[in-house]
Amino acid sequence: MNTKTLQELFLSELADMYDAEKRIVKALPKMAKAATCTDLKGAIERHLQETLGHVTKLEQVFQCFDMGAKGKTCEATKGLLEEGDEIAADFKGSPAINAAIIAAAQKVEHYEMASYGCLHEWAGLLGNKKAASLLEKILDEEKAANEGLTKLAVAKSNPEALCESCDTENARQPDRGSVRTPLARRRGLRSMGVSPR
Ligand SMILES: [Fe+2]
Ligand SMILES: [Fe+2]
Repeated sequence: MNTKTLQELFLSELADMYDAEKRIVKALPKMAKAATCTDLKGAIERHLQETLGHVTKLEQVFQCFDMGAKGKTCEATKGLLEEGDEIAADFKGSPAINAAIIAAAQKVEHYEMASYGCLHEWAGLLGNKKAASLLEKILDEEKAANEGLTKLAVAKSNPEALCESCDTENARQPDRGSVRTPLARRRGLRSMGVSPR
């Protein structure tokens, strides 16, 4: 029988996230540089500062279990960040670049949210209140970062991406009213046989 324990599972996932956060610290400045929206650059730079804090908090969580901090290659984050690099290169110069960067960043945030959700729950089950509290703080920051990115995407980056790429069929979003841009309007008028003014 496999005798591995919940604490071993917890420490293994903790090592995975320690490696993930260090990779994210290296990746976020590249994402901020690739973004062309000032608000998005700002959001990424603020999350970089939080992410540096996550590395420190994880070191404190290791201490809560009398362990030194140790990373274990997080293949998932490595892959998500590689995909992020790829999509940023593919959409460089496009009106969809900021929407692409937000999508890549949100994939990482969701991985972090899933991981910290489990780690927080397990720390509680293992009776380590201090570790649970540190992990909850990280989880809350990941959730807030993700929500901030959603707001930016909805308010700015997605409409910008649509601006130069939409056709008249999908230019209208029923829930939020028309987001037709002058370009989309011109195309719409032409398709109806009317010369745009
Ligand atoms: Fe993080
Ligand atoms: Fe994050």
